[in-house]
Amino acid sequence: MKVLGINAIYHDPAAALVVDGRIVAAAEEERFSRRKHGKRPLPWSAWELPELSAAWCLAEAGLRPEDLDAVAYSFDPALMGTPEESGLNDPGDTMRKMYAEMAPEFLAHALPGLDPAKVRFVKHHVAHAASAGLGAPTADNSVLVLDGRGEAHSHLAGRYTDGQLEILAGQALPHSIGLLYEDLTDHLGFLRSSDEFKVMAMASYGKPRFLGELSELIVATDDGGFRTPKIDFSEYAPRLGKGDDWTPDHADLAASVQQRVEEVLLDLARWLHERTGDRTLTLAGGVALNCVANTRIFAETPFEQVWVQPAAGDSGTALGSALHVARGLGETTEPMPGADLGRGWSDDEIQKWLDTAAIEYERPRDVADAVAEVLANNGIVAWFQGRSEFGPRALGHRSLLAHPGYEANLERMNDVKGREQFRPVAPMVLAERAAEIFSRGPIPSRYMLFVHDVAQDWKDRIPTVTHVDGTARIQTVDRAEEPLVARMLECFERRTGLPVVVNTSLNTAGRPMVDDPRDALECFGSAPVDLLAIGPFVVRRRRSTLAG
Ligand SMILES: [Fe+2]
Repeated sequence: MKVLGINAIYHDPAAALVVDGRIVAAAEEERFSRRKHGKRPLPWSAWELPELSAAWCLAEAGLRPEDLDAVAYSFDPALMGTPEESGLNDPGDTMRKMYAEMAPEFLAHALPGLDPAKVRFVKHHVAHAASAGLGAPTADNSVLVLDGRGEAHSHLAGRYTDGQLEILAGQALPHSIGLLYEDLTDHLGFLRSSDEFKVMAMASYGKPRFLGELSELIVATDDGGFRTPKIDFSEYAPRLGKGDDWTPDHADLAASVQQRVEEVLLDLARWLHERTGDRTLTLAGGVALNCVANTRIFAETPFEQVWVQPAAGDSGTALGSALHVARGLGETTEPMPGADLGRGWSDDEIQKWLDTAAIEYERPRDVADAVAEVLANNGIVAWFQGRSEFGPRALGHRSLLAHPGYEANLERMNDVKGREQFRPVAPMVLAERAAEIFSRGPIPSRYMLFVHDVAQDWKDRIPTVTHVDGTARIQTVDRAEEPLVARMLECFERRTGLPVVVNTSLNTAGRPMVDDPRDALECFGSAPVDLLAIGPFVVRRRRSTLAG
């Protein structure tokens, strides 16, 4: 059975392909269209489909649209009420519903040869749930979807047994932890449905001064749901415009909302555990990208394992809906093999790109050691290896790497990426070395979705990656899964004594992550990066970027 999954309705349009129960390809449209998040989450963009990523998924498997057994669309317009019924009173919802109803025709147009009757609507939060519950390595698990909104709900609590989902709770709109967090993001002058992680980073600079008042407003209920009344954030700190400077009041507000959200999520997880008694909890939905909350769920609830879908935002529903429909067609699905489900190139193909660019390059004996040498000399490296990652995190395939031992490197990296200086950068570390340095969060932590405490005697040794609150959002590297990255880390440690390297996504200000070799060359050409390691080749910048 061949099932193509499509996410299109709100944001982060994406496509995924499941063939005979195995995940063959998954990619976000932004990597192809080069437009961050693919589109703005506006009602009149609901019809826009991930045409390029869907076409690539099919090409990757050598399939034509007519070969598909089903197309799964991660939203079911029949479950969507009127703007008044949801309580959101968003007149744009009428348009969203209409466009979703017409999605089969739109898809048949985008993928000529596809029979529109093969398109199946999947409830949005069932698609999120499947991305976690069926994507996780542990087959039977509890699942929590923590989202902004679906058709009529904002959350789902359930359980997977033998690949079948049992829904145990769901919070109806307008109550929504995701929309509450989005409202705060907007209030703080950031971009809604995009910049929520900046609020999380800002929270670590503040004190939760307003927690008492917020604790009375935002509450978990005894049916597994919660209440989130509309909050006037200007009572706590004035609204900010884009680029305005924030004050301690704003950081305190961010810290207060962040902490209250963490507490409610802990209540939801405990409620679910009381019903299922499962060892493993899986998480998806945009709120599940909140790695500070994820660590508290891991550390403070009875679940022994917490697995978060790396594409926890809406892009992951492309994968989840495909897995859900494949199950419905009687397939036994396999868990996610890793996040590297996007495009990749052979060495010969990469060499052709370099020759076309008429750029000087070398093929060192060991690219991992060549990179480690540049990093040890405090150079910045653009690292392009293997297939690109599905989801917002660079996990050693499209990464910007640096030495973690210099405090100034945080500013340097944020400058390359045109980011705010309060944003942290993250470390990658060999899985077997992680426990010496990092604690509280789960180890291994393969997808960078938890924060860990940095051991006291390591904080001064790796200041670039130690956030203001003494934490780091780590990626642990498994030697068997990522041999090249593991060797680079070993070579770096041999030269510096540090088993840690700074790893952030390979992109420059406001652009999607680098995906193809052209993107990599353009990024290297325009950003102060010392070395591009692309496949087995390296391209060197003649002048050190440290020289200014
Ligand atoms: Fe969603």
